Amino acid sequence: MNKPPDHILVIFGASGDLTRRKLIPALMELQKIDLLPQRFAVLGIGRSNYTDLTYREMISSHLDEPGEILPLLHYLSMDPEDKDSYPKLAARLQELGSQREIAENIIFYLATPPSLYATIPLFLSSKGLLTESGDIWRRIIIEKPFGMDYTSAHKLNRSLLKYLKEDQIYRIDHYLGKETVQNVLVTRFSNGIFEPLWNRNFIHHVEITASESIGVGTRGGYYDHSGALRDMLQNHLLQLVGFVAMEPPTVIASDAIRNEILKVFQSLRPITGDAIPKQVIRGQYMTSHVRGEAMPGYRSEEGVPEESRTETFVAMKLFIDNWRWGGVPFYVRTGKRLPTRVSEIVVHFNASPHPLFCDQQGSSGKGNQLVIRIQPNEGILLKFGMKVPGAGFKVQEVNMDFHYKDLADSYIPEAYQRLLLDCMQGDSTLYARADAVEAAWQFVDPILKTWEENQGIPLHGYPCGTWGPEVADQMIEGEDHTWRCPCKNLADDGLYCEL
Ligand code: BG6
Repeated sequence: MNKPPDHILVIFGASGDLTRRKLIPALMELQKIDLLPQRFAVLGIGRSNYTDLTYREMISSHLDEPGEILPLLHYLSMDPEDKDSYPKLAARLQELGSQREIAENIIFYLATPPSLYATIPLFLSSKGLLTESGDIWRRIIIEKPFGMDYTSAHKLNRSLLKYLKEDQIYRIDHYLGKETVQNVLVTRFSNGIFEPLWNRNFIHHVEITASESIGVGTRGGYYDHSGALRDMLQNHLLQLVGFVAMEPPTVIASDAIRNEILKVFQSLRPITGDAIPKQVIRGQYMTSHVRGEAMPGYRSEEGVPEESRTETFVAMKLFIDNWRWGGVPFYVRTGKRLPTRVSEIVVHFNASPHPLFCDQQGSSGKGNQLVIRIQPNEGILLKFGMKVPGAGFKVQEVNMDFHYKDLADSYIPEAYQRLLLDCMQGDSTLYARADAVEAAWQFVDPILKTWEENQGIPLHGYPCGTWGPEVADQMIEGEDHTWRCPCKNLADDGLYCEL
């Protein structure tokens, strides 16, 4: 792969958690594999009073091995909400560009609170910093959350599109940067065996889980205004649905792929009225003990009101009303303080049409499953029945599996590494497009609104370390399925996530 073109990366929110934990390490990885531009500099922006030197020291204190990245880091102390400080930014960019002989290409990364997502581009544009000319490009990366609902997302898009073209805007959904998520496309479209089966005629239902064992930690203040539906389902989980359900794109190119994802979102059957309590289960973790350790309930977390009704778990049954998926239920769930951290997609194929071995011991008569493990223990597993040697026809379910760790070169890049590199290369395939983000909000909006207006819809408590409220199990069991349990219980080691 070629090195990306020379540019300056400006990070708003440069002393924040995201910059320290994700962005700088991602740049370090790119540097290690020689994929940073020939001429490159980072200009961190924040209100804190650092100099280049003290900023480097602060970043370095959070890294195990800072390596060669530090000399590339610079800092400008300014208030991004103060329009009058932008000439200072323009001057610093000029200075940095000429000192390091870097062309005028610039990426602006907004790792700030969302309240600044409209303000910063407005001020940048007023100083001409977003204007492209000839080969010179200007791009902007926007972190999630992109809006709080359809109206705010639409308003933000409209405001951004006043100063920028869509191809200058990169909306992050870090799930799209995960290697294993991209592999869904390769599994589906580079193999002849899956795609003919990938439809309502052969697939019984699809299950998607993204569980976390951690609670909200120090993010209670943000999370309480968000909740699991906004924080995980509207973006990450729907993107996974998009990858599983989309039609083959005509080419592997940004708009071709994103057009297909948009069509999936537009085909989601709205969940409204009485269907909401039946198809969408919400829960909140309660104080409990997990393997002898006391875990605080959500309402005791820092920054969370004692009476909070914010959901930390959501399970949903949804349908995609199109030719391929008509009638196939998709069950998706996500939550915090569940038994383990795992994200996986399970495609359940129909059982064989004539259950020849069903009365034989061991045969469940259930269909094959294809498990796509996003994280951890990344890999793919196909479950199918085999004959147990000996008399009769006893059937046993066996696994055919592939684990990334078994590849000679099993290095899996971090999502941010891939996404930053793509933006540097001008490839927005793995970034969310305006219309898709809005379509996803249009799908979840009625649910959020109904929850808000109708306090009678239950918010189920669930003990930490469980798979969420039992009603979420009943929702799927009522239809004779169960959520796949991705864990194997190991006495001492806690829960081990088995592929
Ligand atoms: C973020 C959410 O987008 O994704 C967090 O805001 C969540 O609440 C995180 O913990 C999960 O990401 P990952 O990559 O750990 O699955």
